[in-house]
Amino acid sequence: MGKKIPRVDLPAGTRRDTLAVREGLPRSAWGENSEALFLTSSFVQPDAATAAARFANEEEAFVYSRFTNPTVTMFERRLAAMEGTEACIATASGMSAILLLGLGVLKAGDHVVCSQSVFGSTMMLFSREFGKFGVETSFVAQTDVNAWRKAFKPNTRLLFAESPTNPLTEVCDIFALAVIAKEAGALFAVDNCFCSPALQRPVEFGADVVIHSGTKYLDGQGRVIAGAICGTEQLVNEKLMPVMRSAGMSLSPFNAWVVLKGLETLAIRMEAQSARALQLAAWLEAQPQIERVFYPGLRSHPQHELAMAQQSGKGGAVVSFVVKGERTAAFHVIDSTQICSITANLGDTKTTITHPASTSHGRLTEEQRQTAGITQGMIRVAVGLDDVEDLKADLQRGLATL
Ligand SMILES: Cc1ncc(COP(=O)(O)O)c(C=O)c1O
Repeated sequence: MGKKIPRVDLPAGTRRDTLAVREGLPRSAWGENSEALFLTSSFVQPDAATAAARFANEEEAFVYSRFTNPTVTMFERRLAAMEGTEACIATASGMSAILLLGLGVLKAGDHVVCSQSVFGSTMMLFSREFGKFGVETSFVAQTDVNAWRKAFKPNTRLLFAESPTNPLTEVCDIFALAVIAKEAGALFAVDNCFCSPALQRPVEFGADVVIHSGTKYLDGQGRVIAGAICGTEQLVNEKLMPVMRSAGMSLSPFNAWVVLKGLETLAIRMEAQSARALQLAAWLEAQPQIERVFYPGLRSHPQHELAMAQQSGKGGAVVSFVVKGERTAAFHVIDSTQICSITANLGDTKTTITHPASTSHGRLTEEQRQTAGITQGMIRVAVGLDDVEDLKADLQRGLATL
């Protein structure tokens, strides 16, 4: 390729926190300090020959916003720098990131091994949608490395995990799964939605691909739907970009700008929200109306040690718990809150509360839910920046009257 799109001029060795606020593109001719929002569907070319070279990928330049836009590129470069990957491609949503990965690396006759505890729509995408096109998926227990190994077939091309999972916060051993994926010559993708690169960088443990729902912590304030895939330049440029160009699950420049600015505060938000979540989880564990708390930061979590090693010593900001009394009790606790927002989203500065069995995982069969361990008494709280004492009081309202 001839001419390349220039990078920001930062000294070699610039650290992650600085990259989070500065990586992207050089400033425009106007010298703006906050990144520019390029709301344009196409880019004017200087002449027909240059346009031809750019459309043929002989010269890197902005052409058409379905696949190239400066604001989107700034977001992609910044997220790649934070994840420690060579490249990143932004998508319209977290789900379309997984769709793009599937379209880019799988074909009819291929086999996928996927954790059975992934987000409900991810399960549907692999089992139902990819299934229509002749891709078979085996779902295995997230934490059982041998189950992953046993599920392998000669045509296994992709391993897919989420860590921690939604809503059970099960943690997979990224390093161990990366080893078996390599042995089998399969790609290993990790959905890093719950931790974000502020806490966990899956490629440091050997994963090949990182998936993001930018809708969650990357935005951080519940404003836009966004997604991304981070990986090698070869994966992004050769396998994913051609699909993006043909299929167009593109991130809008406006949404890219919002998420790009979200990345600037990601590390301090994750730190503060994780600290609040730990306090809330410890308090919940002491409440008599609660059967069990799922939070990787608690010593009682079955993969506590692993989570601490993989997640920069933090548990993340999602706490799930099971109340005694099944669905009626869970609905009562949710409906008694006055501060928590009753919404299925997570990653917001406003604490959110949801009943996974009837919302995010409502489309699964009861059998699938049982296999995934999502019971009717389970509540998920995604802790934001609300005062933790207010959150305790908010949950106590319903718990005290059970
Ligand atoms: C772990 C995980 N991955 C992917 C997604 C999908 O992301 P989006 O809603 O941006 O499509 C979600 C959404 O809740 C999620 O929790």
